[in-house]
Amino acid sequence: MQIAVIGAGYVGLTISACWVRMGHQVTCVESDPARLSTIQGGKLPFFEPELEDLVAEGVARGSLRATGVFADAVAPAEVVFIAVGTPSRRTGEPDLSAIDAVTDALRRVPRAERIVGIKSTIPVGTTDRIADALRAAGPAHVAHTPEFLAEGTAVSDFFHPYRVIIGTRSQTAGRVLSSLYQPLRCPILVTDPCTSEMTKYASNTFLATKVSFINQIAALCERTGADVAAVASGMGLDPRVGPHFFRAGVGFGGSCLPKDTRALIALAEQCRLSPALFDTVLKVNDAQRDRFVEKARIALGELAGKRIAVFGLAFKGGTSDVRESPAVDIIGRLMAEGVAVRAFDPAAEDGAMRAVPGLVCCPDIYEAAEGADAVAILTDWQEFVTLDWGRLRRLVREPLVLDGRGLPIADAASAAGFVYIGPSTAVGARPRSAEAARHYAGTPHVASGDS
Ligand code: UGA
Repeated sequence: MQIAVIGAGYVGLTISACWVRMGHQVTCVESDPARLSTIQGGKLPFFEPELEDLVAEGVARGSLRATGVFADAVAPAEVVFIAVGTPSRRTGEPDLSAIDAVTDALRRVPRAERIVGIKSTIPVGTTDRIADALRAAGPAHVAHTPEFLAEGTAVSDFFHPYRVIIGTRSQTAGRVLSSLYQPLRCPILVTDPCTSEMTKYASNTFLATKVSFINQIAALCERTGADVAAVASGMGLDPRVGPHFFRAGVGFGGSCLPKDTRALIALAEQCRLSPALFDTVLKVNDAQRDRFVEKARIALGELAGKRIAVFGLAFKGGTSDVRESPAVDIIGRLMAEGVAVRAFDPAAEDGAMRAVPGLVCCPDIYEAAEGADAVAILTDWQEFVTLDWGRLRRLVREPLVLDGRGLPIADAASAAGFVYIGPSTAVGARPRSAEAARHYAGTPHVASGDS
């Protein structure tokens, strides 16, 4: 099948390369000239495991093309996927200007019949509005087909989806898109566009809720002596609860969970309903960052003048993306308090240095650790699980590790002589000064949201 994909970001480029691997011809449209020429050269403009080989292979075979000329991609395409961004406005509502611009551009490239699959996350009612606009200009079968792939595992998520949702009022769009996804052998739910649009927002907000839930439990564990990782494992064995999205730590970031939770809050307010649960999810998430900085302050006695080695800058492991990254936020706060930060991230260094002016990044983790008063782990990169803690012990000034991601490293770090402080470790167990001890004893927990 001849497919056009509008927007070559994480979603657009991943699905383009994956459709090519499934035997289709794909042309993706990208308006950013630098990004476009990188893709045309068979390279990736961002880091995403497994994607580079697929892109290089597709470009070399001529099955994957990238262009800046909208009509060249769209005119011959039987199916057009729209994968442009819908970032938050200041009000929390999504900014639909990119998707509206694509709709206008599509109206100017007529075709006898066309299937349009909207991958972008859009407010309830938007697909119907776009379908009306497109049909006014010619025959179009429009569907919302939300994308559920996650950064860092995008290629594998594409080929092994839990489900595909097709929200449409067009039988043709339902039939064609179902047959396109059929080889992936997963449940395919064909529904109306409003339900599909809501399912996407609800899915991401539910994941955000799970993370905030376990983080609130972590705060209680910290005060009561329970171990949050073990609590999460115990809860997760019940299939009604499930083990996923239960890692406590510095909270969720990225371009999707915070944005989509804000969008549901805006929608609830428009509907004159209380967004209380969603509000609290964000409030608890923000508090995780305060809580981490507070734990660092208590563990170190004071922050000003201290040196902290930060491992991880991306919003999660496996990506170079630093959008709404808890690590970037926490580093900014530490630096504002007079901490000298030396950071390492396997992929996100460039983005983080743009986001935090003056940030010092090191070429490897051991260089970042030299002379540090503490090591702070802020991203769950897999490679941080197998660090040489003996070597780190010889490099740091103080053997203290503040693990903001709850990695399974406590035993290895402790065996090498580090004091390990995880998401539910009470820092008061190791006060560095009388002042810190007093502070800890008298500080209400920041994650409670009422302090
Ligand atoms: C998320 C969803 O997981 C995807 O299904 C969805 O398609 C995507 O948004 C989207 O809407 O495009 P993504 O933002 O790439 O994917 O990353 P997640 O894996 O969801 O992680 C989000 C954040 O939650 C990260 O900061 C991560 O570190 C954090 N997290 C995740 C936790 O703190 N604890 C957990 O247990 C899981």
